[in-house]
Amino acid sequence: MARSKLLRAHLLLLTSVPWFIRLVGADQIIYSDDALSTLWQDWSWGSTIDYQATNIAEGSSSISINSGAWAALSLKSNSPNVGDFAGLRFDISGDQPEIQFYIQSTTDNSQSPTIPLTALSTFVSSGNFTSLLLDFSALPPVGAPLGNGTWDRINFQAQGNGAIYNLDNVILVDSIVVEPKFLSAEPLGTNVIAVTGQGDIDYSSIKVKQNGKDVAVKSVSTVPTVDVPNKSITYVTLATPFAAGTLLVTAGNSTSFNYTLPAALSGSINQAKSFPISDRIYGVNFPTSASYIQHLGVTIARKGGNAETAYNPFGDFTNAGNDWYFENRAADNADDWVGWVQEADADAILLVPALDWVSKDASSYSYPKTVYPDPSTVYAPWNLTAAKTYLTGLKNKPQVVTVDNEIEIASNTHQDMHPIPFGYDEILGRVLNFSAMAKEAIPGVEVAAPSTCAWWYYWTSMVGDSDKAAHNGSDFLPWFLQQIRAHDQSTGTRLLDFLDIHYYYAPDTSANDAAAKALRLRMSRSLWDPTYVDESWISGDAYNSQPNPDRVMLIPRMQALIEKYYPGTKLSIGEFASTADTDLTGGLLTVDMLGIFGRYKLDQATYWSEPDEKGPVGLAYWLFRGYGTFFGTRSAEVSIPKLDPDTLGVFAGTNAQHNNATIVVVNKDPDTPVALDLAGIPSGKYFVRHFGGQAGVAKFQTTMDLRSTKYIVVPAYTAVFLQPQK
Ligand SMILES: *[C@@H]1O[C@H](CO)[C@@H](O)[C@H](O)[C@H]1NC(C)=O
Ligand SMILES: *[C@@H]1O[C@H](CO)[C@@H](O)[C@H](O)[C@H]1NC(C)=O
Ligand SMILES: *[C@@H]1O[C@H](CO)[C@@H](O)[C@H](O)[C@H]1NC(C)=O
Ligand SMILES: *[C@@H]1O[C@H](CO)[C@@H](O)[C@H](O)[C@H]1NC(C)=O
Ligand SMILES: *[C@@H]1O[C@H](CO)[C@@H](O)[C@H](O)[C@H]1NC(C)=O
Ligand SMILES: *[C@@H]1O[C@H](CO)[C@@H](O)[C@H](O)[C@H]1NC(C)=O
Ligand SMILES: *[C@@H]1O[C@H](CO)[C@@H](O)[C@H](O)[C@H]1NC(C)=O
Ligand SMILES: *[C@@H]1O[C@H](CO)[C@@H](O)[C@H](O)[C@H]1NC(C)=O
Ligand SMILES: *[C@@H]1O[C@H](CO)[C@@H](O)[C@H](O)[C@H]1NC(C)=O
Repeated sequence: MARSKLLRAHLLLLTSVPWFIRLVGADQIIYSDDALSTLWQDWSWGSTIDYQATNIAEGSSSISINSGAWAALSLKSNSPNVGDFAGLRFDISGDQPEIQFYIQSTTDNSQSPTIPLTALSTFVSSGNFTSLLLDFSALPPVGAPLGNGTWDRINFQAQGNGAIYNLDNVILVDSIVVEPKFLSAEPLGTNVIAVTGQGDIDYSSIKVKQNGKDVAVKSVSTVPTVDVPNKSITYVTLATPFAAGTLLVTAGNSTSFNYTLPAALSGSINQAKSFPISDRIYGVNFPTSASYIQHLGVTIARKGGNAETAYNPFGDFTNAGNDWYFENRAADNADDWVGWVQEADADAILLVPALDWVSKDASSYSYPKTVYPDPSTVYAPWNLTAAKTYLTGLKNKPQVVTVDNEIEIASNTHQDMHPIPFGYDEILGRVLNFSAMAKEAIPGVEVAAPSTCAWWYYWTSMVGDSDKAAHNGSDFLPWFLQQIRAHDQSTGTRLLDFLDIHYYYAPDTSANDAAAKALRLRMSRSLWDPTYVDESWISGDAYNSQPNPDRVMLIPRMQALIEKYYPGTKLSIGEFASTADTDLTGGLLTVDMLGIFGRYKLDQATYWSEPDEKGPVGLAYWLFRGYGTFFGTRSAEVSIPKLDPDTLGVFAGTNAQHNNATIVVVNKDPDTPVALDLAGIPSGKYFVRHFGGQAGVAKFQTTMDLRSTKYIVVPAYTAVFLQPQK
């Protein structure tokens, strides 16, 4: 997509221009073959580098780089100011090496933002070179320009796992010529074509034919995306509404986009039939900042996870457990964390450790066990008294406390401090003790437990069959609810406000091919659908006595258990995930999930974990709640008799007056637009957000007229938010 004046620059270099003379109007080669340019020096660290590598090369050789964690190939110009180039291009080969770039001045130590390779490409492979370009006027990931101060150093830095890769043709380019090109043109709403392109393209060249007839263009408007002003979308409004049949968009001389618009799927929105949506379902674990919370409209934040089991609030240390060699680490201060989360207007869920030890410092580790057999080498003792001191002393009180995290598997995750498998009684005992303590320490706090990790442990314990048999053959969660209820009845106080579970989809979508993506997008049915047989081991392995054990139907199933065993308990999903946070389908699935959570009266949910604000999952939150514009406070009835939940989700939110139905549609079909005929909502002006489809992953938003509600089009693989405007 970018052309550089490579050939001309090469010739100039061969005439051996002295290094202090700027190649005005030309490119500067830093490396092409055999050796670094004499204008540049190697200031690398922690890396093995060969400038004459032939394992893969364009020309006679390439640079091979093997960097340890956070080490870098670092190239320093002889000149204190490299000057005014348009960008840096390079060819890279490797198995999507985990590296990042930044540009630096050794004079004043200023530096550019850190740019992960993934912001340029996620398709770098080891069999060939991929040509990439860093455009200095719009550095990814946010499109900010490289400041116009001096700079003289370029760093290709490995991330935490180190990196092995090759580079070739590292060149500073004098100018970037972007070849004009239309990239996408998709039908949206009732009469709008959403167009993206690159370079200097002529939007007036767009012509549209519907069912063979020319359709006039009424207006064209180009709108920058919300937080990447450099990326824009152009809405071409047609004089004639869409209809079923063929739609052909031609642009420029040679580009065309061809669709078959389907018959409309009919249905209705009934705003009068509605119930409240819990505002706690739009939560995430570990939001990264106050602006993150506000941009995505996050309502609740959880500080949880395996490491938090060992959180020592009297020094701010945790231990990674078996996620990372049982290493102690420094941790964020919980009190401060609750403070800034609440300041940003989200509620806070804090975990109280409930085992017998917490991390004692930021550096010890207890691996391997043969060397460190005793927990006290790494941990300090922990008990109810310490926990109460912790919670009582908080300046900033969380709204919710969870009793530890997935303690039923602690004999695995934290085997160095609790090697004995947890059984029913110990889980219950610790939940009772720490819940009662939390309620004393923070009057009014709500307690969520037992934060069970997965389907298997909803029904049994790590101890196994004998434990279940010793508890009247009862599955774990039903037994747990019964016991808590019996306890609460005997004391006259409620200890448990939320039944908290973690839910990770059991089907394997790791291949991430077309079949895996389709599976990912339909498996949200396991959250609600009593007819959906789980496409995983769950359907073949009924180790529980629950009805229809081959279907998960998670939310209604858990609600039924609560109703039966401890009515009045709320349901929380403290961890859940999309299975593919950087893939568009992960974002579309999250849209579907957030819609389902509202429709099925879930009380609380927090995503695991900190999805990238600008990635597909972050965009799902933005779609529902970004920047203060929210899906309704109530879930309104949507009735679309022929809707196929494998490929489509349609959700309606409304307000207490039932006069403002916001619609969210997620078209999970990879290549076919959907058309909806929806009674019960007005035509007229709408605020519209969307992401996905050919337009890609960015916060696109605009206002547009829905000329009627009889034929509303949503492109393939796209999620749309539609809110009527006064
Ligand atoms: C580079 O290799 C990858 C993986 O082998 C392949 O998918 C891709 O098409 C190749 N690209 C080129 C330009 O040959
Ligand atoms: C450098 O940037 C500053 C602030 O963006 C701007 O005011 C100034 O004109 C720029 N200087 C040059 C030489 O481009
Ligand atoms: C970003 O902005 C620069 C300067 O305005 C322009 O040259 C470049 O083409 C833009 N990039 C994109 C992706 O729009
Ligand atoms: C379109 O056609 C015109 C005239 O035939 C030509 O000059 C122009 O370069 C073409 N544009 C593209 C983008 O191919
Ligand atoms: C559009 O697609 C249809 C169906 O694939 C095809 O028959 C038709 O020729 C295409 N039209 C154009 C102009 O590409
Ligand atoms: C709790 O732990 C503290 C120190 O961590 C210790 O002083 C205290 O005796 C312990 N209390 C109980 C009841 O074990
Ligand atoms: C709960 O607390 C009581 C009283 O301090 C103690 O005897 C019991 O062992 C505790 N239970 C668990 C499972 O820690
Ligand atoms: C044990 O389970 C049976 C049925 O599974 C039930 O009828 C009985 O009430 C249970 N007993 C106790 C003590 O929970
Ligand atoms: C619907 O609610 C939004 C957000 O409060 C508001 O901006 C919009 O004007 C409302 N639309 C109507 C038709 O009342």
